[in-house]
Amino acid sequence: MPIVTSKEMFSKAYTGGYAVGAFNVNNMEIIQGITEAASQTRAPLILQVSAGARKYAKHIYLMKLIEAAEADTGLPICVHLDHGEDFEICRSCIDGGFTSVMIDGSKHSFEENIRITKQVVEYAHSRGVVVEGELGRLEGVEDEISVSAEESSYTDPSQVEEFVTATGVDSLAIAIGTSHGAYKFKPGVKPSLRFDILEEVSKRLPGFPIVLHGASSVTAQFVETINAFGGAMPDAVGVPEDMLRKACSSAVCKVNIDSDIRLAVTAGVRKHMFENPSDFDPRKYLTPARDNVRELVKHKIINVLGCDGKA
Ligand code: G3H
Ligand code: 13P
Ligand code: ZN
Repeated sequence: MPIVTSKEMFSKAYTGGYAVGAFNVNNMEIIQGITEAASQTRAPLILQVSAGARKYAKHIYLMKLIEAAEADTGLPICVHLDHGEDFEICRSCIDGGFTSVMIDGSKHSFEENIRITKQVVEYAHSRGVVVEGELGRLEGVEDEISVSAEESSYTDPSQVEEFVTATGVDSLAIAIGTSHGAYKFKPGVKPSLRFDILEEVSKRLPGFPIVLHGASSVTAQFVETINAFGGAMPDAVGVPEDMLRKACSSAVCKVNIDSDIRLAVTAGVRKHMFENPSDFDPRKYLTPARDNVRELVKHKIINVLGCDGKA
């Protein structure tokens, strides 16, 4: 199975009432942990790369590692640019072998968002690459960009038909109250999502794949481990898994997870180094990190996304 686009994955997920996980990757151990999990559960997979990940690891290293993962497992894997901020980075990723790009024009006016998204779609589609657009703005931190609660905004369902028709995008990320990072909801306050917006958007776009960003649950077990072994994370609250399961059974076909992976890696490294303070072999402390990622992703695939056995 070569590296694929998300087209077939999304049409099966839409009709099957499940979602495909889109996991952020930054290095070999994260790629291996995720792909081992998908391979063991026979799940379709989207590996996504941010601008920050490309800066850290270099495009070519991540691309070659993902190609190796595909050759090793035989899984259908889609390689996606996460939060492309302009045409240039989208073009560079398309030219560099990605099968999917996100153009995140959500910080622009509606008209400018349509203009740059359409430009990316024209370039991408003529090369067999699919495009994700975004309407509405999520709160939180991604790369060096931080969006405050005041700057964030829910998606306006009355704009979605015009946006999708005018741009030709293949999927649409919407803002319904999830946010980036580990601190999504105030501790002690019951988390809530605007399922009414999701429902209205799906009514207006029948059969069209919706994307949920900021969908980490902020797994308590990892936060506790980090704090038990020398970390000092404040109370962190993610998206409850029952809400994610509800979203996955609807028009949501792609669910973005990064923070949970970071927590899994950090918990593994911290515990190992705390228990073995004289250790200085990266293979020793990155093994529990990779194991944590594998177990976390298996849990997501089976218990949250429902895409096990769908590859
Ligand atoms: O939504 C953004 C992802 O969590 C990627 O984060 O830009 O720091 O790599 P990053
Ligand atoms: P989390 O920070 O909730 O993992 O969200 C990741 C994301 O949306 C990547 O685009
Ligand atoms: Zn995101």
